[in-house]
Amino acid sequence: MSLIFCSRTDDPEEWRAAFAEHMPDLEFCVWPDMGAPEDIEIALVWDPMDRQLLDFPNLKMIASLGAGVDHLLAGTTLPTGVPMTRIVDDNLTQGMREWVLLYALYCLRRVAEYLAFQQAEDWHRLAAPFAHQRRVGIMGLGVLGTACAKSLQEIGFQVSGWSRREKNLPGVNNYAGADTLDDFLAACDILVCLMPLTPATEGIIDSRVINALPKGACLINGARGGLVVDADLIAALQSGHLSHAVLDVTRQEPLPAGDPLWRAPNITITPHVASITDAMSGARLVSKNIRRVRAGEAPHHLVDAKAGY
Ligand code: NDP
Ligand code: OXD
Repeated sequence: MSLIFCSRTDDPEEWRAAFAEHMPDLEFCVWPDMGAPEDIEIALVWDPMDRQLLDFPNLKMIASLGAGVDHLLAGTTLPTGVPMTRIVDDNLTQGMREWVLLYALYCLRRVAEYLAFQQAEDWHRLAAPFAHQRRVGIMGLGVLGTACAKSLQEIGFQVSGWSRREKNLPGVNNYAGADTLDDFLAACDILVCLMPLTPATEGIIDSRVINALPKGACLINGARGGLVVDADLIAALQSGHLSHAVLDVTRQEPLPAGDPLWRAPNITITPHVASITDAMSGARLVSKNIRRVRAGEAPHHLVDAKAGY
């Protein structure tokens, strides 16, 4: 069974070494360097290969190199009937917990303002509330959102969450569905986005949603840039309706030099590093799924292509 690896951002050699450990009999090919397309049974992909996926007649599983699959579902012609999986991994979850907690505390403790004071050599104290006096709302209460909710609760934040279907997370104010969105937003001093990019969520963070947040709220987007209407975000930062935005993701990545987001006031940008799939644990996970496919079983962590995540 051969696997084709296709990513411009992940190091193929790291993954090759990880598979050599977890599945030594697997033939690991790196796109476009491969043998006969008929031998390819697994595609492990981050960047869409477009038509090429159709050209593997014996493909048995398409595995996303990340938790998100928008890169595969949007604009890619996919072979029908081939299961698609995504990464659900403790290391990936831990990375996102760290990133979200870091920037929730960054907003709470007004770190950006202290950095500016330091630049101006200005010894200046600001009032800062305790975590238990601030409300964090998480859009997307899936694997990552649920884990982040727990970490934020542990440090004391009041946590609520919004998802498509009803949830019942202990200690979390759970909201579900479009009808509850405004009530959810009205109770967010810090809004954390951990939703997949789908046709239903594209551009969801627009001026209407931003204006439904309390004045001075912060936005933390660790999900996908396509969730946000950039012009609306920049306007809200300029007007002060949002006091800060932290973006790990942007519509175009890398974010090009000269993009207005770079120069927006009160913004912090990290280059899609909130949580990166670890090759060793990722290869373990994918190997387990390959074994399942070999045994004629359905792989774990299947994507619902209709829902888009
Ligand atoms: P999950 O699929 O586990 O969770 C997605 C959550 O979003 C679910 O709670 C789901 O609701 C909710 N959701 C989806 N569509 C809607 C909608 N239309 N309205 C309301 N809620 C909706 O995903 P993960 O937690 O594993 O990952 C979330 C995203 O994080 C990924 O898709 C990826 O884009 C991003 N990511 C970013 C990383 C980074 O480094 N920046 C790293 C890893 C992931 P329900 O529970 O009802 O299904
Ligand atoms: C992912 C990501 O989806 O890295 O895992 O964004």
